Amino acid sequence: MNFELTISPINEIDAALELIVVVNKNLKHDFIQDKKLLKKSGFKAGQDETCLLIEKNRLYVGVESINDDNLRIAMAKALQTLSSTKYKSLKIANYMENKTSYSNLRAIVEGLLLGAYSFDTYKTTKAKQPIKDIIISLEEYNAFDLDMEDAASAIELGQITADATNFTRDIVNTTPEDCFPETLANIAEGLAEDFELECKVLKPKQLRKEKMETLLAVARASRHKPRVIHLTHKPKNPKAVISLIGKGLTYDSGGLSLKPGASMVNMKLDKSGACAVLGIMKAVAEMNLEVEVHGFIGAVENMIGGDAYKPDDVLVAKNGKTIEVRNTDAEGRLVLADVLGYAQQEVEADYMFDFATLTGASVVAVGHYTSSIMGNCDVPKDMIIDAAKASGELATKLDFNRHLGKCLKSNVADISNISNTPYGGAITAGMFLSEFINKENKDKWVHIDIAGPAYVEHAWGENPIGGSGAGVRMMIKLLEKLANK
Ligand code: BES
Ligand code: ZN
Ligand code: ZN
Repeated sequence: MNFELTISPINEIDAALELIVVVNKNLKHDFIQDKKLLKKSGFKAGQDETCLLIEKNRLYVGVESINDDNLRIAMAKALQTLSSTKYKSLKIANYMENKTSYSNLRAIVEGLLLGAYSFDTYKTTKAKQPIKDIIISLEEYNAFDLDMEDAASAIELGQITADATNFTRDIVNTTPEDCFPETLANIAEGLAEDFELECKVLKPKQLRKEKMETLLAVARASRHKPRVIHLTHKPKNPKAVISLIGKGLTYDSGGLSLKPGASMVNMKLDKSGACAVLGIMKAVAEMNLEVEVHGFIGAVENMIGGDAYKPDDVLVAKNGKTIEVRNTDAEGRLVLADVLGYAQQEVEADYMFDFATLTGASVVAVGHYTSSIMGNCDVPKDMIIDAAKASGELATKLDFNRHLGKCLKSNVADISNISNTPYGGAITAGMFLSEFINKENKDKWVHIDIAGPAYVEHAWGENPIGGSGAGVRMMIKLLEKLANK
């Protein structure tokens, strides 16, 4: 999809279709051109409501009010509406309220690209998004004294952000037969080559040398050998050093504590944290942000077999702590325990953020659309919450507490891999991870449980069925902020 920015008035732009945003309460105003037709078709300009007037080559889309989130979702809805038409080009006004609102422009671009996404790798007939060219008019250029360069940059940042999100969605949606640990490593190496990142991939021999025995135990019954991936973006004068850690379970069968059939469906989603890290690294490199970013991924498949790790096993993590396995389906935290240890050994970061589809309990607690934010210190947690808000993602804090922490006690090892209570499972999983964060890093670390939004079996907001790319937009926003400090 090509974007073009022009100062020509919208009427003078040559395009197959005009996309018009209508604020709910403005439908009665004189400046709405097709009032009669819209009324006839029952269009009320409710948020995300669309009305395509073929005879006028105009697509109307409603919003509750003009703000980034509403525009982003409305744009996505508009593009979904157009997916079955033959319109090749589209023109749109800018909907910037004043000269500081370039974020509206970015949200429009993000919405269009996120809404145009479809995953049809496994369909014999491929859906083709018809729209190829989008022309955005900065008609009020003079009135608002807009800066063309700033506007162009908002569009470019929107494009990079949405492309990275769609890139992540593609990997998440890929089947476990086609995407296993080695595949994730190949994707990382491909990114390194395309965008001048450093990339190191650890195979089982090196993992053993690094004493990542809990990760190796989870991986043992799979025919696909595990990988730990370390991607690095290293600018000359970084404003901060950040480590990102992603859970990359390319399939989670539950292991010997086998998941019931229905719960196993969609467990290709369990690599979403890793896929988010890959998408973020791509965007960081493309934006050439002045922050040093390290992406660590634990890529493993959790399977059953004669060689599988078992409930009752005691594992020794990289940091020396012993873990009693009481449920092999709580495998993500075991993999992350070692990758968090490795990340801390390799990089002295200012902040560490992990992304993981860690618990069904997070989905129970906050629902399908929201990520759970956990950690020991409010400062970095609030940074994430703010960045999520600015990016259009939903995130909310779940606080740790000492009483739930005690539920991880083990009679035979330093810690148990599951809690002894069925409640508060997202928090106890987060508190388990905290045991593998070194003392000096406790306040620098945030755990982001993306189990809710990472993969949803219906479309929502600007997201399609399946992988959403959760985590990507919020982290890009945060890294941009750190880079521009
Ligand atoms: N990958 C799952 C968590 C999950 C569940 C993600 C549903 C997305 C949707 C994780 O490895 C898991 O199985 N967790 C268990 C933990 C339990 C055994 C303590 C869970 O949530 O049931
Ligand atoms: Zn599991
Ligand atoms: Zn899992």
